[in-house]
Amino acid sequence: MTSVHEETVGTVMIRQEEILAKAKEIGARITEEFQGEEIVMVGILRGAVLWMADLIKCVDLDMTIDFMAVSSYGAATKTSGVVRINKDLETDIDGKSVIIVEDIVDSGVTLNYLKGYFQSRGAKTIRVCALLDKPAGRRVDIDVDYIGFTVDDRFIVGYGLDYDQKYRNLPYITYLED
Ligand code: IMP
Ligand code: MG
Repeated sequence: MTSVHEETVGTVMIRQEEILAKAKEIGARITEEFQGEEIVMVGILRGAVLWMADLIKCVDLDMTIDFMAVSSYGAATKTSGVVRINKDLETDIDGKSVIIVEDIVDSGVTLNYLKGYFQSRGAKTIRVCALLDKPAGRRVDIDVDYIGFTVDDRFIVGYGLDYDQKYRNLPYITYLED
């Protein structure tokens, strides 16, 4: 039998236990900082799904969730710089506190676009929570309010992150060799 684990040549960078501990830590911060607010957590499909599932269980507040799908990548490992909405919000976010949940911030182009978009839809506040931050890839200056882990300039896969739609199901963070 073949295993997807054998195909990812990188070593495990971040284990599931570390990610769960980080979700607890950030979830507690969000719980404290958003007392009394009406929050909507917006997960960016598809990469953020695993991290979002961990995170929301650690937020002890009334909240709703929604999802958006955007693309700026094709099958390539470098961003095209063009963001397209493939699935829009279904929630009215006017006057609400939005927390964008992302898998990774690389160039910052996607988040920069999304922040502007949520602003135009009347969000009261917009915060960003990303499982991973890859500062070496940054092309636009962007504030990331909650960061799980900072990673080197490698192509990361696992725990929701894909290469050509593969490897999202790995229960750890790893990387592909160049
Ligand atoms: P940005 O717009 O360049 O910040 O890229 C954001 C999106 O690109 C992320 O939400 C990911 O879907 C994808 N991405 C960026 N870096 C990686 C990576 O190392 N592995 C997998 N996906 C990545
Ligand atoms: Mg993504």
